[in-house]
Amino acid sequence: MRMKDKIALITGAGGPMGRAIARRLAEEGASLVLTDISANRLDEAVTLTHEVLAEGADIAARRSNATVAAEILPVADLALERFGRVDVLINLVGGLRGDMYVPLLEISDERWGETLQLNLRAGLHLARALVPGMRERGWGRVVNISSIAYAGELGQADYGAAKAAVASLSRSMAIEFAPEVNVNCIAPSLIRTSVVERMDPAELDDLRDRTLLKRLGEAGEIANAVLFFSCDESSFVTGQLLAVSGGMAVSL
Ligand SMILES: NC(=O)c1ccc[n+]([C@@H]2O[C@H](COP(=O)([O-])OP(=O)(O)OC[C@H]3O[C@@H](n4cnc5c(N)ncnc54)[C@H](O)[C@@H]3O)[C@@H](O)[C@H]2O)c1
Repeated sequence: MRMKDKIALITGAGGPMGRAIARRLAEEGASLVLTDISANRLDEAVTLTHEVLAEGADIAARRSNATVAAEILPVADLALERFGRVDVLINLVGGLRGDMYVPLLEISDERWGETLQLNLRAGLHLARALVPGMRERGWGRVVNISSIAYAGELGQADYGAAKAAVASLSRSMAIEFAPEVNVNCIAPSLIRTSVVERMDPAELDDLRDRTLLKRLGEAGEIANAVLFFSCDESSFVTGQLLAVSGGMAVSL
């Protein structure tokens, strides 16, 4: 049990990736604090995670918009009330709202602001609330989710810039929170989640073709990488960006 007696908080836990991460960590013995903006998705995540919860482990859940301090900070409070601490912070909330592809010069100021907010803000609020405790106890993990779009992406300049910011923030966190807290970042390529439903088949074929493994990723494959960064096995790994991308080359 690689997560025995560990408490992990996951934002955006109601989506396919969040559920897969929650279940993977629960299978390894973790207790979990789950939050999502959708109460229904959150309830489903809690039910699914209960199925694999280890003996003695527990789940606390609260709906929140993770980008809003007044909503996400009570989730941190709930975690501290219920479990007394959080050992692992997994910042999954992020993505792109509205049209999937917009030419750079046509991206509105409003969209720029929203995309940066959605991908960066929750992690900052929660780091302020939870990292001091991790440092005091001398052990902690932060796992941030970027995207291979961090390297620049046609029609997704705002998302690429936001995910580059997440990658950079992860390195800054690793530097500032060392030596007690290890901070790492995962950059997925396209994973089979709801985003796939927003894309046309030709785009999907193109993205599959651009991976060496000739397929999309599965949520469970992200969960395995998150597990590694969340447990003791990654004890000498910090400040790293791991592409979980089927070998998709980042190129211009
Ligand atoms: N899906 C992919 O192919 C892919 C690829 C690369 C990176 N990512 C990144 O992985 C993460 C998860 O992606 P996804 O496609 O599963 O996301 P998603 O849009 O399906 O959202 C996941 C969950 O987050 C919740 N959520 C959305 N906004 C929220 C908010 N403000 N506060 C709290 N919860 C909120 C949603 O209700 C949903 O249950 C994101 O950071 C995304 O950028 C995804």
